[in-house]
Amino acid sequence: MDDISTQSYIGDIMLENCLMNASGCNCQFLSDLIQLDKSNSGAVVSKSCSVNNRLGNPIPRYYHNDTLSINSMGLPNEGYKYYIEAGDSIHKPYIMSISSQALYEDISILEKASSSNISAIELNVSCPNIAGDPQLSYSFDRLEEFLRKVFEYADYNKHIGIKLSPYFDISHFNMAFDILNMFKTNITFLTCINGIGNGLYIDLDKEEPIIKPKNGLGGLGGSIVKPTGLANVNLFANNTNFDIVGCGGITSGQDAFEYILCGAKTVQVGTQLVKEGTDVFSRIDSELKKIMYDKNYNSIECFRNKLTYK
Ligand code: SIN
Repeated sequence: MDDISTQSYIGDIMLENCLMNASGCNCQFLSDLIQLDKSNSGAVVSKSCSVNNRLGNPIPRYYHNDTLSINSMGLPNEGYKYYIEAGDSIHKPYIMSISSQALYEDISILEKASSSNISAIELNVSCPNIAGDPQLSYSFDRLEEFLRKVFEYADYNKHIGIKLSPYFDISHFNMAFDILNMFKTNITFLTCINGIGNGLYIDLDKEEPIIKPKNGLGGLGGSIVKPTGLANVNLFANNTNFDIVGCGGITSGQDAFEYILCGAKTVQVGTQLVKEGTDVFSRIDSELKKIMYDKNYNSIECFRNKLTYK
């Protein structure tokens, strides 16, 4: 299987393999980022940052089982300067995730990130866990206004991606395509999907929600969200020209294969990384290569976005 490659690109950024962590999972602290750097991931993604450090929501705020995760972390992070400096310790492509709230407060973060060792910026417009701050990705007028503000700000030179919420209704997909396609010269990639917002998971013994913030509401991840993630990747791959980063319920080489078949160029691993640690990347990469070998594919471009329809 030596001649089988899972190498991929985001824009002109080359990744040794198509796997990386999902922002938010094991990537808040420098020690986490260094561990990801040493792992077999193709890239490293930071926790979504704000201007200043944030403690996030009260605990318990994360839970997972065999099929799902639910979190209401509330963007705990060390502030943007920390993640800019962290880039100096990373030796593979490094994607800094920035929350939309941070750019509302200080758009010059883009300029500061530009003179650093960051390969790309992922703008998180889809965090469901900040009470009183609705997800920008579901407020189409505000999303357009936000993207205009970002892209009118000329002082940056990094590839920019947008991390989107899952969409469910075709009319909402169409509105998202229209807005994102307005910025086709500015956006390099879309990350589909962030967690499915505002799920509720009950602790049966205690007869109460398993997490505390927002009366138990939190973003869902893990295997149960994969069909939604695949649909979003496939629709964005076929209705935009951006590179698509797939995310949501990737636990195995088969999951990664399905996301690539639906149009993803790279994939992010979230809940499974939290469960398994950074060895997950070697495992998924070798499972993916085995599937490619069995199907006689030697690169991911042999099958990317080649889903056939009945
Ligand atoms: C969080 O920190 O609340 C999770 C981030 C996200 O889902 O965007």
